[in-house]
This record gives sequence, C-alpha cells and structure tokens, in this order.
Amino acid sequence: MSTHSSGPAIETVGLVKTFGETRAVDGVDLTVPAGTVYGVLGPNGAGKTTTVKMLATLLRPDGGEARVFGHDVVHEADEVRGRVSLTGQYASVDEDLTGTENLILLARLLGHRKPTARTRAAQLLEAFGLTEAAGKQVKHYSGGMRRRIDIAASILNTPDLLFLDEPTTGLDPRSRNQVWDIVRAVVAQGTTVLLTTQYLDEADQLASRIAVIDRGRVIAEGTKGELKASVGAGSVHLRLRDADRRPEAERLLRELLVAEVQPEPDPVALTARLSAATSDSAAEQAARALGELTRAGITVDNFSLGQPSLDEVFMALTGREAGPATGRDAGTDTDTDAKDEVAA
Ligand SMILES: Nc1ncnc2c1ncn2[C@@H]1O[C@H](COP(=O)(O)OP(=O)(O)OP(=O)(O)O)[C@@H](O)[C@H]1O
Ligand SMILES: [Mg+2]
Repeated sequence: MSTHSSGPAIETVGLVKTFGETRAVDGVDLTVPAGTVYGVLGPNGAGKTTTVKMLATLLRPDGGEARVFGHDVVHEADEVRGRVSLTGQYASVDEDLTGTENLILLARLLGHRKPTARTRAAQLLEAFGLTEAAGKQVKHYSGGMRRRIDIAASILNTPDLLFLDEPTTGLDPRSRNQVWDIVRAVVAQGTTVLLTTQYLDEADQLASRIAVIDRGRVIAEGTKGELKASVGAGSVHLRLRDADRRPEAERLLRELLVAEVQPEPDPVALTARLSAATSDSAAEQAARALGELTRAGITVDNFSLGQPSLDEVFMALTGREAGPATGRDAGTDTDTDAKDEVAA
C-alpha cells in the first residue's frame, strides 16, 4: 500500500446524480479523512449506493466534483481505480467456484504468483472464519459466509480506500461482529474505509465521523459525539414504585431538568431527555432529579442513565425513524421499493 500525502481520502463538492425525475444524490459535500472509517448513514433510497458508485468510478456524476486521494473520479478514473476496492451488493465472486478457488483466481488476476496467491487466500479464509468452508462452492454459502468471502475478495490487495456498501445488512449478530472485526483489522493496516449502513449502532461501533444522508442530501455531519450532542446529553430512564405518582414525577422532572419527559407504555416507566445546554453533566442532572423525586416522596425502583442513540439523532434531524422503511411510524413513507439494486 502506498502511503499518501496528507490530503483527505475523499472530497466531494456538490455531487449530483439524477435518474429521470429522481435526484438520487442531490448536492453532496463530503470530506473523508484518510486512515479512518467514515460512516454514511441513511435509510433505504437515501442515495448511499449511488454516492459510492460515483466515488468508485462505476457511475458518472451529473454535477459537482469528487476527488479520491486528489484524483478526479471522472478525468482521472484510472488513478482512482488503482487505489480503491468495492464490496457492494453485487457479486464479485464466482458461484460455481469454491472459496479457495475464487480467492486464488482473483489474486492471480491481480498479478500475484501462484504460491503467494495460495498463501494469501488461505490467510484470508482463516482470518474470516471460512477455513472449513474453503472447499465448498460459494453458491452453498450462507448469507454471512457470502458477505465475508466478498469482503475477503476485495482486500486481496490491501486497497488504500475500501468501500463497504451495507456490509452487514441481513446478517445475524455473530456474523455482524465478525465483519466488524474484519473492518477494524483492515483499518488498522492503514486502509481508509467508507462504510454505508442503515444501522445506527454499526456506524456508532466503527466510524469516527458520520454523515447522515436522507433523500440525496447530507443532513448532518460530524463526529459521533457531535451528532449525539445535537440531540442532548442523554436520557434518564426511571421506573417508579407507584404508577399513580407518575404524572407528578413527570411534572417535577420537566421543571427540574428542562427536559422532554415521556411516559412509556409501561405505566410506571418514564424517560427524560437531558439537556446539553447546561454546564451540568448528565450524571449531575440525573442525580439532582433523583434527589428531588425522593424529597417529594416518590419512590424510584429502578434507574438508568443512557447515552443518546444515533436513532434519536436521526429522529431529531428528520422527524422520522431511521432504518429500513417498513412503514412503522414512518409518516409519509415513500421509500418502500427503493431496495432494488440497479447495476451500473
Ligand atoms: N439506476 C437507477 N435508475 C433509476 N433510479 C435509481 C437507480 N439507482 C438508484 N435509483 C434511485 O435513486 C435513489 C437512491 O438510491 P440508492 O440505491 O443510492 O439508495 P441507498 O441509500 O443505497 O438505498 P438502500 O439502503 O436501499 O441500498 C432511490 O430512489 C433509487 O430508487
Ligand atoms: Mg444501497
């Protein structure tokens, strides 16, 4: 891998892609620092794949500019291709070949000699927990195994920039964790990763900076901490001994914390969102609230202090829930069929 000058790995200004009437990407500005995981977070149809495809030179932008390690994705596409690798929702591996055969073949195509190709294939299969399945045809792999062999194929040559387009969608928790470990290992070797995801916890786990995109636009950008701060300092969850006292507890908390207080379906439970606009820490605010409730003779059986989740960030930014648009609480839900992937 070549070490590169200090510039950003990706820089886009006003990037646009339209499909007929649809402005799939509608003026996206992004700066992705080299050597980090950058999360692009957005629901179905937000424009994530379209953005990635333009950056990986698979789709031509209709407007704006994009540079990858300083190279223009349109005019210097070959230089860009030499530096990047993409694990998308498309097949990079041959279904009829085994895991080992696929990786060896791809390594040979990348110019590795046979012994090196073999070693690299074996290493990756081992690292990705696929040694047992190495001799099986890929068409017999589970979804999680399939995703892992796709990622393995895309890092045969350690790329300077790896695009991972929804690498864990549809995977079970164990497979997701395996993919996360792989991503961490790839970054530790100096690769920059641009990761798209619909999972807020995934961006939270992996990315140092996050852009939230919705309907082709960046609606928020920053470190995880910055995004979370935009919705408040966290929340306090309380369970009271006595459901009858809940209205009073709500009123007290609202006055005391200047917070949004919400009753929960459970008749003894309450959630209060803490303010980020005071110099008191979340813990101090929570302690004060507990003290006041106790003084009022309201018994608190259970109490927890939560960090704001990225779900809350998305909600605060868009007024809608993030994640796959299943129609649940989605209000005006226009995204239902957006999952169809269209080949570039
Ligand atoms: N080739 C295409 N032709 C027409 N419309 C397209 C094409 N590719 C994408 N779109 C539309 O552009 C919008 C953005 O799609 P895109 O695939 O980039 O979203 P996404 O954020 O990757 O969504 P998902 O999470 O479902 O993968 C959607 O409305 C989609 O239907
Ligand atoms: Mg997509």
